[in-house]
Amino acid sequence: MDITEIIQHQHDEQRRQFAVLEEWSRDDTEGLAALWGRLAIFLELHAEAEERYFYPELVKIGSGGADAESVGEEVEDAIHDHNEIRDAVGRANAAKTGSDEWWTAVVDANVHNSNHMGEEERQDLGDFRQRASLQLRHDIAVAFLRYMAQHAADGITPKDKDPEKYVEAKEEAPPTALAKKAARQDGGVPDEPADDAPSKKSSPDLQE
Ligand SMILES: [Fe+2]
Ligand SMILES: [Fe+2]
Repeated sequence: MDITEIIQHQHDEQRRQFAVLEEWSRDDTEGLAALWGRLAIFLELHAEAEERYFYPELVKIGSGGADAESVGEEVEDAIHDHNEIRDAVGRANAAKTGSDEWWTAVVDANVHNSNHMGEEERQDLGDFRQRASLQLRHDIAVAFLRYMAQHAADGITPKDKDPEKYVEAKEEAPPTALAKKAARQDGGVPDEPADDAPSKKSSPDLQE
């Protein structure tokens, strides 16, 4: 199992579920409500699980992938994007299913989520693939899927995070139990990247 593959796969599923909504009969509001309810829970859980299990490890060992200036910048940006997605999901949840207001919020959620997934795949997943051990990638995937399965039926209460404070707190935190376990199994030291070489970068003029 590999957390970068799990996240990538869930992104593909999110794209597919937005596409299903777009092609669904506009008159079937009961169906639209059911489809959206499932997708809204999925989006919230996916972001929260990333914030609990993936980003704390990336902050420790990342070096900024592709067009990211640094690991701090790429993670701050991701947390900011998650807040924007939560805002749009919340607006859709509060609107009458099928109304103009509802569709606007659903489309906004799709736009924010699509932009975010592209960046997350290019910067965060790419960075992690180059820096994390396979053992850590496996252990995070298990914790991530476990958390999502536990809350899949009822969802969670969405909670915005302050991006700067989130990164600072994770930078200062001691190595997580997951990192320590993976390091023990690898015979290495937690908090150290598996590969000393920094992640590969885009041309400087493409960097944000
Ligand atoms: Fe994601
Ligand atoms: Fe994300």
